[in-house]
Amino acid sequence: MSIYLDHNATSPMHPDVIEAMMPFLQNPVGNPSSLHSFGRMARSAVESARAEVAQLLGCDSAAVIFTSGGTEANNLLLKGYVDRGSKRPVISSRIEHSSVLEPLRQLQSEGVEVILLDSGPDGQVDLEAARPLVENSDAQLLSIIYANNETGVIQPLQALVEMVDRETCLIHSDATQAIGKIPLDLSQMAIDAVSFSAHKLRGPQGVGALVVNSKPRQLLISGGDQENRRRGGTENVAGIVGLGKAAQMARLEMDHKHHHLTQLRDAFEAMLADIPGSIVFGQQAPRLPNTTYFALPYYHGETLLMELDRAGFALSSGSACHSAVTEPSHVLKAMGVDDNLALNAVRVSFGMDNSLQDAEQLAARLQQLVDSLPAVIRQAAG
Ligand SMILES: Cc1ncc(COP(=O)(O)O)c(C=O)c1O
Repeated sequence: MSIYLDHNATSPMHPDVIEAMMPFLQNPVGNPSSLHSFGRMARSAVESARAEVAQLLGCDSAAVIFTSGGTEANNLLLKGYVDRGSKRPVISSRIEHSSVLEPLRQLQSEGVEVILLDSGPDGQVDLEAARPLVENSDAQLLSIIYANNETGVIQPLQALVEMVDRETCLIHSDATQAIGKIPLDLSQMAIDAVSFSAHKLRGPQGVGALVVNSKPRQLLISGGDQENRRRGGTENVAGIVGLGKAAQMARLEMDHKHHHLTQLRDAFEAMLADIPGSIVFGQQAPRLPNTTYFALPYYHGETLLMELDRAGFALSSGSACHSAVTEPSHVLKAMGVDDNLALNAVRVSFGMDNSLQDAEQLAARLQQLVDSLPAVIRQAAG
């Protein structure tokens, strides 16, 4: 059995989540819009899950729009809330997930001005370079990833928010990787909208939410009146119940989780530092507690992934959605990392089911792989 170390791609479900979902998979489940007892039970389960999400995030239940995941939530926000007829720009960054960058490209092709902010070498949006672009831009939307999926680097969102007009600019963050890993209290933050996905916080795949108080200008999925007329279609009741439970567990286990993951990551990075020439991207910036994005100078990322897969370790080369493509990561490119080094990048993302032993075994295997290289290669690279 391989050791799973790819929790930023997707995280196995929490046992309590599976237990909570079971009755909604095994028994007849009503349509939450139906008036009979089955429908009322389904409605009540959906609303309880909504309340759990609201409690985790410190927002109103009414703000939670259930979607099919982070991708749909990002699409709904960008395609639904941006005013295409306006001359006011949308500001985002070069280090967003493709589910933000692609809708932005679409908006651009429809005539919307899109400004993409650069990253500094540490993996954070470069605030000094951003300032002249953001201040006085009269932006209609600022959309910045909360924590990057590849590097785990947490972005200086509040500093960027201070550069826009809070009265007229909608603030959105793709918080898919952050929610459940680090505390995020919307009641204390100047953020109007966040997107996220259940399977990144130990919930099921195929369900997520956009949290936003206002109504979209345009629906992404129109049909019935579900989700307060903001997203049509019969609710994924079992999935939403799983998301609610995952949100509850994330809230209850946040401190323990943070401590455990930080310990694994720091121990792994200390062992990695003993391998000559190893590099951890974004290490100097504030990061998610579970993510190490690294490169060994001797191994192409894909070769390393395959070697590790054979040895029983499941890792990823950057964004899972891009793992079939052998182009250097757009995030590392934006950070100014040389293409050859960027192609060596591999991501470890720990989860609650991992132990210190897993981190030790991975580091030992990496060391063995490096030791097995001819000395001439090691000397040249190190
Ligand atoms: C930062 C970020 N945003 C959005 C998504 C999309 O989430 P989903 O695939 O669940 O739609 C992901 C998934 O990898 C992600 O990491």
